[in-house]
Amino acid sequence: MPFNASAITNSLKTSFIGRPLCFYSKINSTNTAAYSLALNGASEGTAVVADCQEEGRGRLGRRWVSPKGVNIYTSIVLRPDIPPAKAPQLTLLAGVAAAETISEYLKKRPSLKWPNDVLLNSKKAAGILIEMSSDKGRINFIIMGIGVNLNMTKDMLPPELKRSATSLKQEGGINVSRTKFLSALYLTIERWYETYLKEGFTPVSKEWEKYSNLAGRFVKINAIDREIEGTALTIDDNGYLIVRETTGEIARIVSGEVFQVI
Ligand code: BTN
Repeated sequence: MPFNASAITNSLKTSFIGRPLCFYSKINSTNTAAYSLALNGASEGTAVVADCQEEGRGRLGRRWVSPKGVNIYTSIVLRPDIPPAKAPQLTLLAGVAAAETISEYLKKRPSLKWPNDVLLNSKKAAGILIEMSSDKGRINFIIMGIGVNLNMTKDMLPPELKRSATSLKQEGGINVSRTKFLSALYLTIERWYETYLKEGFTPVSKEWEKYSNLAGRFVKINAIDREIEGTALTIDDNGYLIVRETTGEIARIVSGEVFQVI
């Protein structure tokens, strides 16, 4: 099946995610493009998709390897009426949707590593980059950026990522149609997003915990201002990670990177 605007639009089963859809064969970053569209008033659900990205961005200023012809790179405009402190909830929602969609293709169960990694076999298969514009304590819009490594092979990865990154093809030996996968991903996101708007974050966080690889484990985390060591307990109602530090203190971590799990 081809991977272009009309093939994707024809396979959509959603009512608003991916409508309208802006497809690029090459772009700097779908997040950057979606952000400009949102600034210009793009409606909720507007999605940008690219065959490849020249400056794909990851969290913490990293780059996201984005070769052509193999993976999913997409960014969706959302306009939830929530305070900015709750934006991390959308990262976890996207993680649940990506893990569920991947599960439709593989016997191997994906796991979720707080805040934004989808892992297969302890290696990263997908990542989420949420960016937002807010004003006076309210969100104007959120860009939900998702990259999924579908058919990428090891030789397409730089040496430093060969051991830590993977793809559905590497883990399952299958070739996945990008058009079908994207359509399934959008539908899963739409369902979870509707549940989230109606029922709040609890159903999302419950599902997230089922995929989480952290609860009860000893972790080391690079948080914004310091390194934290302790036992990961749960995620709270904002999507922050709660850790019982070795000192006994309870830490609520808004953003950071879990670099060791024991
Ligand atoms: C991460 O794991 O650090 C986040 C990776 C997010 C990558 C996606 S690919 C589509 C969208 N456009 C970007 O430039 N980044 C996100």
